[in-house]
Amino acid sequence: MRSKVIAGNWKMNKGLSEAEQFADSVKGNLPKDDNVEAIVCAPFPFLPALVSKAKSSNLKVGAQNMHFEDSGAYTGEVSPAMLKDLGVTHVVIGHSERREHFAETDESVNKKVHAAFNHGLVPIVCVGETLEQREANETMSHIENQVRKGLEGLTDEQIGRVIIAYEPIWAIGTGKSASSADANQVCTFVRNVVKAMTSENIAEQLVVQYGGSVKPANIDELLDQPDIDGALVGGASLEPGSFLELVEAGT
Ligand code: G3P
Repeated sequence: MRSKVIAGNWKMNKGLSEAEQFADSVKGNLPKDDNVEAIVCAPFPFLPALVSKAKSSNLKVGAQNMHFEDSGAYTGEVSPAMLKDLGVTHVVIGHSERREHFAETDESVNKKVHAAFNHGLVPIVCVGETLEQREANETMSHIENQVRKGLEGLTDEQIGRVIIAYEPIWAIGTGKSASSADANQVCTFVRNVVKAMTSENIAEQLVVQYGGSVKPANIDELLDQPDIDGALVGGASLEPGSFLELVEAGT
């Protein structure tokens, strides 16, 4: 039985005191249920404060990106070892906004996924199609390519510990979520691709999230779907009350 994983992706929002207030309001109110995991993926400058506030609570703290190298002349970058040192547990890799605005490719995603495992971080690997690809019936081939290239060279055991977030680009920040049936169809497909790469057993362990305009009003029907194991949430994860409702839906 897979746990439900609800991760907030704050993107480039909030200030330090807002981030701290968020952790203060959320940490004591999370459900005490081992079958649901709550993660907040925050901008780098807030991570130390969030990790410290989240100590001894069920709230986990993730980053939204990192470099794949351990150290070196990479001005402006943050390494996996630095994140691990801080107590960060998860890292979002290959979000479509990074692919679009910061030239992330399946190759860099793959290097980052390996680096995450080398440093004991859990990668949340984002995949998703554009509206044009969906209309041209290219969704499945595009997703298969992203999954296969993103996970290339990992051991089966590592693949079983990856979180894949299926985020159709046309549903991100638009208020227009994919229908739960359509989202589930792609999440099932992701699991089948992983099954073909590994085994049925590993594919059954894989956590597949849906992301794209998830909110308290639609999370229940998304999580009711058999292959949707959680959500990666932008806008609706910013307010503590709304984040708590989303996590509660996973119980
Ligand atoms: O990573 C989460 C994201 O891209 C979805 O954003 O605001 O549509 O929930 P939003």
